[in-house]
Order: sequence, then C-alpha cells, then structure tokens
Amino acid sequence: MFSVTCIAPVNIAIVKYWGKRNEELILPINDSISMTLGTNELCAKTTISASEGFQHNRMWLNDEELPFEEDSRLMRCLKGVQRLALMNGSQKVSLSWKVHIASCNNFPTAAGLASSAAGYACLVFSLARLYGIPLNEELTTIARQGSGSACRSLFGGFVQWHRGVLDDGRDSVAKPIVSAQHWPNMHVLILVVNDERKKTSSTNGMQRSVTTSQLIQHRVDKIVPERTENLKKAIEARDFQSFAEITMKDSNQFHAIALDTYPPCVYMNDVSHAIASFVHTYNKTMGTVHAAYTFDAGPNACIYVLKENVAKLLAAVQKEFPNDSIDSSQYLRGLPVSIDSPESNIEKYANSATDNPINTAAVHRKAIGMLNIQPKSLLKYIIHTKVGDGPCQLSDDNSLLINGLPLSH
Ligand code: DP6
Repeated sequence: MFSVTCIAPVNIAIVKYWGKRNEELILPINDSISMTLGTNELCAKTTISASEGFQHNRMWLNDEELPFEEDSRLMRCLKGVQRLALMNGSQKVSLSWKVHIASCNNFPTAAGLASSAAGYACLVFSLARLYGIPLNEELTTIARQGSGSACRSLFGGFVQWHRGVLDDGRDSVAKPIVSAQHWPNMHVLILVVNDERKKTSSTNGMQRSVTTSQLIQHRVDKIVPERTENLKKAIEARDFQSFAEITMKDSNQFHAIALDTYPPCVYMNDVSHAIASFVHTYNKTMGTVHAAYTFDAGPNACIYVLKENVAKLLAAVQKEFPNDSIDSSQYLRGLPVSIDSPESNIEKYANSATDNPINTAAVHRKAIGMLNIQPKSLLKYIIHTKVGDGPCQLSDDNSLLINGLPLSH
C-alpha cells in the first residue's frame, strides 16, 4: 500500500470568478485574482492510499463516506491526474489500483469560507504526490474541474486564474503572481457571521447569473480586464490603498451582479452590510485606507489589513460589534494579536476610542436590533490569518487512514 497525506490552503478572491463559459470543464467567463491564506489557521487535509487489495474507490469527507460516482467532479480529478501520470510515464503507483481518500477541513465546510477550493486543491495535489507528478500549471487545469476556485489554491501568495480562450480549457490555468514572502505583512480578519451551509451554492448562483444578469457581460468585457491589470500593479508595488479600493469595489460589483440575477442571489445579510459600512467609516476616521472588505457567496466578511494595523482594527470591530468572549481563543481564533503592541489590549483600546463615532454601522445595528438579533452576538467568531504558502506534503504520522480506513472506523 502507498499513502500520502497533504494539506492545502484556502484562497480568497480579490477579483471574483463568477460565471462559466463551459459547465462541464469549468471554464470561467473572466480572469480572477486571489490571495492564499495561511494553512495554520485554515486548511484542508487529505490522505490517499492506493492498494492492490482495494475493491473500489472510496472517499470520506469529515468522516462521512461519500458516493464515488462515475461522472462526479471527484472522479474527473482522479482520472485527470491518472492521465497525466500515464503521459509522464510515472510508474510510482500502479494506475489500476483503487484508491481510498479521506479528507477534512479545520474550519466549517461549505459556509462560504472557500472549503471546496482547499478540498479539491488538496485532492489534486495529494494525487499528484501519490503518482509522482510535479506541481505544474497543467495540474491547475485538473483542480479547476473539481471546483473552479480550487486551481488558485495550488499556489501560495497572490494568484491569477487566466480564463483562457481554447475550447478544451488547456489554457485556463492558474499562475502565481508573487509569493507570500513578497507581502508578508498582509493579514486578514475573517468575521464569521454565520458558518452554516449556504442557501444557493456558487455553482447554481453563477449559472443563473450568466443566463439572467444584464450587467455580467459588461463586467467581463470592460471591468475585469482593467481591474486585474491594476490589481497586479498594486500587489507588485505593495500599494495597499489601490489594493483596498479594487478589493472593495470588486466585492460590491460581484454582489450587485448576484442581485441582478433573476431570481436574485442574496448572499450578504444585514450584519454583512453593517460590516461594510463600518469599514468605510473606519477608514474615513483613520484618514487613510487601513482595511478592505470582501464577501464571497455567503455573509462572512474577509477584511484585508496590514499587520501593523490589526490591533487597532480589531479594537474598532469590538467596539462596533461587541462580544463578551473577546478574550477567549474560541472567539478570537488564529494568529495572536501582537502582545508587544500598546494597543494589544483590545477591550481597553476600544473603550478609550469613544471619540471615533462610527455612526453608519450604528444605524445598521439599530436596524438589526429591530429584527430581534442579540447585538452582542452579531459575530460568531473571528479568525486572524495572513497570506500563506501553497500545499505541502506531511509525514505519514499525520495520516487520516489506517490500513485504508478512516481513524474513526
Ligand atoms: C464567489 O469555485 O465554488 O467564491 O466552480 O462552481 O465549484 P464552482 O464554484 P466555486 O465559486 C467561487 C465563487 C466565489 C468567487 C471566487 O472564489 O473567485
């Protein structure tokens, strides 16, 4: 029996992928750019074992067995990597042997936290390791067929998924722009509003947008080409101001298209809108842009912020969206906020910052209060992370399978 265990990161789009030109091959209508997040805080972990003794291909996600159907995205990824192994003449593991796959996330699955991206990237990377194939752009065309955004999780740092023009999708590949080391102080606060399964999946939502939104083509033709070029320049120059403006504008445009879809896809809720208002008011109060929000197909906010500004932002978040558990590691998860900073005592800072009225968000809070939501629990928890590296292989003692079966069996 041969086994490999790998982890792969989550990525958060800055210029969003929304809409396919080919559903089967998962070919997008526009380019997208993302930032890869640190695997210590958010990652998918996958073990794959291959053995002559296995009767069938089997897969467990978070300990629950899933059907391994012939025309599934899972099967397409397996066959895709096996085809590459055949072409490369890789003899490491026999292609006729069946595989057992176990995968889990260290964060909620399908909550709009890009779990499918990390999951499929991890699957394809682990298969590549099993069959002895090096990480290359071709591998991203296979991850793309698991979930479009997964192709960007095969690299660290900032990554562009080129939509490509060919019908067979050969040129629809992800390529790194710069590594995580280029902008190491780029941090992220994920404000988790709701970590339950989302109502309209990205796959269904974008399909409906392509057929019904009258704005989407303008985005594809005019907005995205200019935006990707400007964003790449901002990333290369570490220009946070431009980066932040593009990030927020693209998030807003994506949700405008979601609403222009018929029937509309509503992903942001009142708390999400309160967070967006808060960020704008916060930036205004600071006199310069310190924070940039982006929302995917769910209500949770990802806020990009430079390391030196994290403590201050967190204090303002706590002031606007108070939570009694602010000092608990269950509420504030991930990277610790620098203890040598005089502003690290978040509660103290928040209380002293009364001269920074953030009125717009307060108006939203009031509206939410009328909906009978406890104002002290608007945020479920916060994850503090930063730009990170791509997937990697772990030692065998991290395996999720013992003799080909999940540890819990
Ligand atoms: C809003 O990659 O999950 O997160 O290709 O159908 O699996 P499928 O969709 P998916 O869509 C991600 C949409 C997004 C934007 C993005 O990540 O670029």
